[in-house]
Amino acid sequence: MNIVITGSSRGLGLALTHELLNRKGHVIIGISRNPGCESKNALSKYLHILTDLSQAENITKAVEKIHGFVDSVDVLVNNAGILIHKPFIDTSPEEIHRLFSVNFRSAALLIQKLLPFMKPGSHIMNIGSMGGVQGSVKFPGLAFYSASKAALTVLSEVLAEELKPRGVHVNCLAPGSIQTEMLAEAFPGYQASFSPDELAQFLADFVEKNYRFFNGKTLPLAITTP
Ligand SMILES: NC(=O)c1ccc[n+]([C@@H]2O[C@H](COP(=O)([O-])OP(=O)(O)OC[C@H]3O[C@@H](n4cnc5c(N)ncnc54)[C@H](OP(=O)(O)O)[C@@H]3O)[C@@H](O)[C@H]2O)c1
Repeated sequence: MNIVITGSSRGLGLALTHELLNRKGHVIIGISRNPGCESKNALSKYLHILTDLSQAENITKAVEKIHGFVDSVDVLVNNAGILIHKPFIDTSPEEIHRLFSVNFRSAALLIQKLLPFMKPGSHIMNIGSMGGVQGSVKFPGLAFYSASKAALTVLSEVLAEELKPRGVHVNCLAPGSIQTEMLAEAFPGYQASFSPDELAQFLADFVEKNYRFFNGKTLPLAITTP
């Protein structure tokens, strides 16, 4: 499969990239501002695009590079994200813009630009968050982060309908907490329910085959709150 994974330099995206690299026959294209992983001894091939996805023009250039590597894209994993843990009242317009640019707009623009190269049977896996799921337990200081993830969640549900004629599935996987740098920076000392490697195995199975059983779904990946 030709798989594009955003946010592949660390955390969940890096763990998913490693997991897929150890499975056979994939071309994985990672995108992030910092370098991705080494592909030595891997069973699949890894290519990296260094770019800042918060800038719309960078997404256009990244898609051009993707076409230089592969003719079509089977899976797009919109995983890149940022978390700004701050009271609603103190969050600046610039911070709100940054959160929505990375967490929502970059995913939407990548989908727009890659869709012409996604054949029937391909799929989009958006990484949301439990905080962005309607009716879930909410936490102070995460208003804009959670709202950006809620936007991605609803986009996934609507797009699944719109893309049915193309045969492209769209789902949103919504983790609770994962023991990554993002979590440690925002909530120092908090112990998450899952390691990135554990979740990566589940996500890799979803990327390779289990997506076939879901379309337009938001799947909560949490056994605790969050
Ligand atoms: N950790 C959790 O508890 C948790 C819970 C629910 C949902 N999630 C979601 O899961 C996803 C992965 O989170 P994580 O915990 O693995 O976070 P992380 O450790 O902070 O990793 C985030 C990834 O996104 C990339 N990224 C951030 N801004 C970018 C930009 N402007 N352009 C390109 N790439 C960018 C980062 O790469 P560079 O810095 O190199 O650009 C990094 O590879 C995120 O969408 C997050 O919201 C996480």
